Amino acid sequence: MNKRVALITGASSGIGYETALAFAQEGTHVIVLARRAERLAELERAIAALPAGHGDVFAASADVTDPESLRQAVEQGVERFGRLDILVANAGIGHRGGIADAEWSHLERLLRTNIDGVLHSVRAAVPAMRASGGGHIITVSSVVANLVAPYAAAYAASKAFVTSMAHSLRLELEDDNIRVTDVLVGRTHTEFNENRLGEGKRTGQGVPTMTADVVATAIVRATHRPQRTIVLRFFDRLIVWGSILIPDVLGRLARRQYR
Ligand SMILES: NC(=O)c1ccc[n+]([C@@H]2O[C@H](COP(=O)([O-])OP(=O)(O)OC[C@H]3O[C@@H](n4cnc5c(N)ncnc54)[C@H](OP(=O)(O)O)[C@@H]3O)[C@@H](O)[C@H]2O)c1
Repeated sequence: MNKRVALITGASSGIGYETALAFAQEGTHVIVLARRAERLAELERAIAALPAGHGDVFAASADVTDPESLRQAVEQGVERFGRLDILVANAGIGHRGGIADAEWSHLERLLRTNIDGVLHSVRAAVPAMRASGGGHIITVSSVVANLVAPYAAAYAASKAFVTSMAHSLRLELEDDNIRVTDVLVGRTHTEFNENRLGEGKRTGQGVPTMTADVVATAIVRATHRPQRTIVLRFFDRLIVWGSILIPDVLGRLARRQYR
């Protein structure tokens, strides 16, 4: 039987890295993209060291904000494995700071990466999935997607875009036999905080943190047992439900956390 093929963006660290490793471990071939080639080489070595039966890896340096470089990398990966079954649109970056005072270059980079990057990834992957008879798109959003999030508003809104798009995309691609799952990720221990743009590099106190392999396992599981939305922990469900039921109460708590 043909092995499945998964494309993972932002695979050079954190959730993307662990997701690529988890797919390869279960025998899925992986096409892994990010800008840092040396970190992708590390991932290639880690996959090569997995027990027998693991999936193969095709790594390419690509920037999700550049549709041409992304399209070329996806084409090369699909040519290598002959098909594409899964996209994990994971590459993303954080931002803190007030909307009125933030540096425009930071806001622009945030939006180009978290919004354009996901659109370019989907648009690069769907033709190959159609040619393969169907597939599964996993969007990596955040529990803050619907949160009133003062001083993290641009990041939250960028994830609201991802989540909203995922829900519509699910129906747009239904007839192509392509499923869509949106993962609302809560605080996870990765390089996300160090890489975050804007002010206030401190991490939130008192917010429970999970490891990236927990998110990776859930993503791989979702490709076997599809769901529309995944929220991993009770604490994260409180944020998601609180955002709907008591938006301003949570918003004021968030303001203390993010300012
Ligand atoms: N960690 C959390 O608490 C948390 C919570 C909710 C949601 N998330 C989401 O989870 C996703 C993964 O983040 P993470 O926590 O794993 O952080 P991370 O360790 O910083 O990983 C981010 C990944 O995105 C890639 N990336 C960033 N800009 C890119 C670009 N222009 N082109 C290509 N790749 C790019 C980075 O690779 P290069 O720098 O090598 O390009 C890296 O591999 C993000 O979408 C984030 O918003 C994270």
